[in-house]
Amino acid sequence: MNKARIGIVTISDRASRGEYEDRGGPAIRDWLANALASPWEAVPRLVADEKTHIETVLRELSDSEACCLIVTTGGTGPAPRDITPEATEAVCTKILPGFGERMRAASLASVPTAILSRQSAGIRGKSLIINLPGKPAAIDECLRAVFPAVPYCIDLIGGGRLETRAEFCAAFRPT
Ligand code: MTE
Repeated sequence: MNKARIGIVTISDRASRGEYEDRGGPAIRDWLANALASPWEAVPRLVADEKTHIETVLRELSDSEACCLIVTTGGTGPAPRDITPEATEAVCTKILPGFGERMRAASLASVPTAILSRQSAGIRGKSLIINLPGKPAAIDECLRAVFPAVPYCIDLIGGGRLETRAEFCAAFRPT
């Protein structure tokens, strides 16, 4: 089985300047290591909250690095520099609103400020791109909420086959 390539993109002005340790990227990598049973490798990136830079990284991970899945963390809120959803939607040909809806609904059960995240998701070529908030605690909550649908989505776009460990996260594929 080919190794799936998964882009992990931390979007943070402070982390990109080295003022702040990137905790989101490693948290996504650890979560995926627990969830995935099939072979995969991480393609990590760290970028400032600049729309053109984010777009460039997302295009590179999809078009050149052939990532079937790209997960971003940070820059989804209402602050002036938060621009991740706009950059994501600019590079996608299809938006999947259900991902943001489901992640916000799941997060609202534990934190009222979940409503502040404008997190989005969409398709570019054979890549599914999913935005997560920057807080490491949000990563587990949001990925748990949507990941059961991720392998089938990647099947549908021809991105390859991901298998999960059912005891951690059971993928759902309609028969
Ligand atoms: N979602 C979960 N699950 N847990 C959280 O702590 N924080 C919220 C929200 N979503 C949060 C969450 C807050 S406080 C903000 S401002 C937004 O995500 C946007 O975060 P971001 O700008 O770091 O992406």
